[in-house]
Amino acid sequence: MNQHARVDTKPIPFIDVAAQRRRLGSAIDEATKRVLDHCQFLMGPEVAAFESQLAAFCGAKHALSCSSGTDALVMVLMAKGIGRGDAVFCPTFTFCATAESVALVGATPVFVDVHADTFNLDVASLRSAITTAKAAGLTPKAVIPVDLFGLPADHDAISEVAKAEKLFVLDDAAQGFGGLYKGRAVGTFGHATATSFFPAKPLGCYGDGGAVLTDDDELLAVLKSVRVHGGGSDKYDNVRLGLTARLDTIQAAVLIEKLKIFRDEIETRNRVAARYSHALKDVATIPVVPDGYTSVWAQYTIRLAPGRRDVLAPALQAEGIPTAIYYAKPLHKQTAYRDFPVAAAGLAVSERLADEVISLPMHAYLDEATQDRIVEAVRRALR
Ligand SMILES: Cc1ncc(COP(=O)(O)O)c(C=O)c1O
Repeated sequence: MNQHARVDTKPIPFIDVAAQRRRLGSAIDEATKRVLDHCQFLMGPEVAAFESQLAAFCGAKHALSCSSGTDALVMVLMAKGIGRGDAVFCPTFTFCATAESVALVGATPVFVDVHADTFNLDVASLRSAITTAKAAGLTPKAVIPVDLFGLPADHDAISEVAKAEKLFVLDDAAQGFGGLYKGRAVGTFGHATATSFFPAKPLGCYGDGGAVLTDDDELLAVLKSVRVHGGGSDKYDNVRLGLTARLDTIQAAVLIEKLKIFRDEIETRNRVAARYSHALKDVATIPVVPDGYTSVWAQYTIRLAPGRRDVLAPALQAEGIPTAIYYAKPLHKQTAYRDFPVAAAGLAVSERLADEVISLPMHAYLDEATQDRIVEAVRRALR
């Protein structure tokens, strides 16, 4: 008998938002219907309710919802008046929006390398990038650590450098909201945190959405103004440039329901990740979670020797198992970003990671049988 005939090739989703939708059942339908009935589609009561629940979830003093994770980053940089001539340090191994927000406000992103084991900002490289920025005549203003793939960055180490250099710290937690670092929740590090509710994020809505978390009352007041065209106390006198960057009330209603199950989902994601790591540790470099950290596993990303993922991805695809490469090109190699400065010591780790990483299906609804199918397919392909 042909042993391959028994391999199940039914397509597996990379992230199963439909399974979550089934779990939530009528709760979301009822919540969105309430908005349809009261017709306050912008700044309806669900927006303020969600903001206070989000702040309470992580222990931040304030949460300000907005239209996307990118806008959350842009709004904070705008509110801080960061712009031309200012250097903002960010990892090169991240989603483009981290650096895009910096360039959009006219400041200069300066690229920093990451650690190979955590994929997160390397403080030695940050110091090197600060030297680069000063030598280029830029004023170091801010650093944007990213909690990549759901794992918090080393916030204590970053904060030490930031304090010494008087840098504003804006945590990009688009992938990491819900995570813990030394017992403290993401959303409470640095001066402000930006997060995203893009549907595929660990806490996602049914469209675009985002939020800023901060303890800073003054920053909150400016952010509120930036969120709606730079408005001031006089309705007819806009006091600064701003955006149209509100979170829709319907999305807030969706997020209120999803936040109720988020802690449980984080636990399940951690069980799924632990099973992957146990089953794959002898065939791949599995992701590292340092002691005292909790990841929310926005991605489960393994590393393979260069060239091996080109064997793995098509083999899995043939069995209906999707994979993704985050990130095949670090930002400093991408067309829009290649002219920006990079840390003097280079970005060798990010360049290597770009050739080695591959992410497997990861979500809170990955049942053991399906995960076993994935594990067996990975092991077969890498044998
Ligand atoms: C690290 C990172 N920063 C920023 C963003 C931007 O978020 P959004 O897509 O909501 O604009 C994303 C997600 O897409 C991200 O992964």
